[in-house]
Amino acid sequence: EKGGFDHFMLKEIADQPQAIADTLLGRLTDHGIALDEVRISDQDLRDVTKVFIVACGTAYHSGMVAKYAIEHWTRIPCEVELASEFRYRDPILDSSTLVIAISQSGETMDTLMALRHAKQQKARVLAICNTNGSTIPRESDAVLYTHGGPEIAVASTKAFLTQLVACYLLGLYLAQVRGIMYADEVGAVVRQLQQTPDLLRDLLDQMDPVRKLSRDLSSARQVLFIGRHVGYPVALEGALKLKELAYMHAEGFAAGELKHGPIALIDDDTPVICVVPSPVGNAMMRDKVVSNIQEVRARGARTIVIAEEGDEGVRAYADDLIFVPRVPTLLAPLMTTVPLQILACEIATARGYDVDQPRNLAKSVTVE
Ligand code: M6R
Repeated sequence: EKGGFDHFMLKEIADQPQAIADTLLGRLTDHGIALDEVRISDQDLRDVTKVFIVACGTAYHSGMVAKYAIEHWTRIPCEVELASEFRYRDPILDSSTLVIAISQSGETMDTLMALRHAKQQKARVLAICNTNGSTIPRESDAVLYTHGGPEIAVASTKAFLTQLVACYLLGLYLAQVRGIMYADEVGAVVRQLQQTPDLLRDLLDQMDPVRKLSRDLSSARQVLFIGRHVGYPVALEGALKLKELAYMHAEGFAAGELKHGPIALIDDDTPVICVVPSPVGNAMMRDKVVSNIQEVRARGARTIVIAEEGDEGVRAYADDLIFVPRVPTLLAPLMTTVPLQILACEIATARGYDVDQPRNLAKSVTVE
């Protein structure tokens, strides 16, 4: 069942190129994005004035990335919120609000309660879900399934990447039905999405240095992660994986926030994993993150830099450097997340823990 891998998690990491290809299948056509199963009319989608995304854990991190993509491509204001917080603050919802509930299992009680609240307030609810016929899609007005296949390991990996793909498809589709034509950019993103399975296969073949690094980091007292823009949710996701699998203190920060407090955590040899944006996609943002790397290095941090192939300029600031393939800025999480998944899995294994069944956790959390 584990396909020759020691753990389901390793198998599911390796399955990611196929999971993405399956999630894209039939949805990218010569005429644009086709999401026939989304049973909300084009007119209703044109009338949407506000988007909320609700989710928990890893699914929430995919929602954070989705916010950047949806706002950029559609210009509709979009907020992402932890499902467990959503209804308690009495959010402003009406029939022109689209609420997107993201859930691998489709059974997460916090997310279900958030969507029930949204429906009561007359919002339209669309589920992004990996489990056919589960409760969240059944109670939603529409569903966009991720075709990741069953995810057994408690730590979410392929579900995360396929959630990202579904969010990108939805964002592009909303832009399309609303007649927003960043024709060049959208066309480029679509072409690039089609290439991501192959790029990911190449990346997965180059992960030996990450495995070696994991052994070095397995005795660290804490590990910090920094990123900016879509690299910020990736930093949060890398830290979550390490917490849940390796039981280590790990925190993700927006790189620009470090100087407002967290930089005090850094002492000699604290590993800081730095997710660097593409210099081609956004040179200014990339330079800002490089300055943040210099700041932590000056305080003694060991910098582990995840950067785009060809960005030789970061080498001078990296104690360890991991390159990922070049993709448009908004798609970068499809690449930069992968080394962080492997890092957490390998560190947990080096520390002697069961990566598929971490302590205190269940695959699907059906209580509030
Ligand atoms: O099934 P869901 O996507 O709704 O689950 C949400 C979270 O419980 C889940 O992503 C959790 O954070 C994972 N264990 C993270 O690896």
